[in-house]
Amino acid sequence: MRPYAQMVSVGAYVPEKTLSNRDLERMVDTTDEWITKRTGIQTRHIAAEDEATSDLAYHAAKQAMERAGVGPEAIDLVIVASISGDYLFMPSTACVLAHRLGIKGVGALDVLAACSGFIYALSSAKAYIESGMARCVLIVGAEALSRFVDYTDRGTCILFGDGAGAAVIRASESPENRVVDVKIGADGEFQDFLITPGGGSRHPAHGALDKAHCQFMQMRGNETFKVAVKTLTQDVQTILARNGVSASEIKHFVPHQANYRIIKAVGDALGLSEEQVVMTVAKYGNTSAASIPMALNDLYEAGRLKKGDRLLLDAFGGGLTWGSALLDFAGD
Ligand code: ACO
Repeated sequence: MRPYAQMVSVGAYVPEKTLSNRDLERMVDTTDEWITKRTGIQTRHIAAEDEATSDLAYHAAKQAMERAGVGPEAIDLVIVASISGDYLFMPSTACVLAHRLGIKGVGALDVLAACSGFIYALSSAKAYIESGMARCVLIVGAEALSRFVDYTDRGTCILFGDGAGAAVIRASESPENRVVDVKIGADGEFQDFLITPGGGSRHPAHGALDKAHCQFMQMRGNETFKVAVKTLTQDVQTILARNGVSASEIKHFVPHQANYRIIKAVGDALGLSEEQVVMTVAKYGNTSAASIPMALNDLYEAGRLKKGDRLLLDAFGGGLTWGSALLDFAGD
């Protein structure tokens, strides 16, 4: 009989420094009122100068491993989801993180799926475990997005923050409290909706990148917003339907924290109550791949995430990519 995958712990880390809407008012032509009304964001955390993405990931991963009661020798695969890795392409952030955690000789890989990265990582962990290729997978969503934000562009700089979240996904012979289903999708037709144009093979770093601000994230916000609401709503409806689960059975709906209005629209379309919808966007902003595990950790630390709680996760981001997951939490 094939093993099942369980999420047995979560952990998170946020850097100390914060950047409030008032701070942003002094940097670009914006107001606290506009940001709050259009996004729900009030503040975000910013990595210290000597903190790279793997440093944020390290603290989150360590906490998740401690809570799962597993040491480095138990982990047989490390997956890091990020669009702000330590280095441009190599080494992977997963390699750097595994080394720092003392995890040796096992696979370590990065997942590049923007804000959907954590769901993509979860889907890989589930597949590795159910196929018997791994028994205990560390998955991390970590971002130092502030390094790639153009702080002269009011359309994006008000949105993003830094942080990390992690989870340990372990094999179990029992179907109880398992990762029931994960669904991922992508459509490159909209590749320019969210893009960091410079530095890759299309526009290499040895050009006039600085002048064109090509090394920073660029976003067609309003178009992204519309596709996000439609895609996310359909995606979560599909995953619920194909598993015969109704929205009222969901204990916590944990969406990617991009914008209060997107979350509200999807929650309303599903008929979810305020109590079911987890909202952390006000205090962290959009932390891309880190936002879902950070929100899970918030729930856990508030004593609201219990073993057996049914979770519905969903995310949408650059690529475009999207994904949703249905699971029963297996942590203590
Ligand atoms: N302060 C004040 N005014 C602003 C600001 C700002 N910070 N930013 C834009 N505006 C202005 C615009 O210039 C525009 O002015 P105009 O009407 O004079 O032209 C007006 O506000 C409206 O702009 P819109 O872009 O239409 O504003 P919208 O309501 O769409 O909100 C936002 C913008 C918050 C970016 C929203 O579109 C959004 O959240 N988009 C989705 C983001 C998302 O989901 N991303 C996916 C994940 S991210 C990832 O994968 C990394």
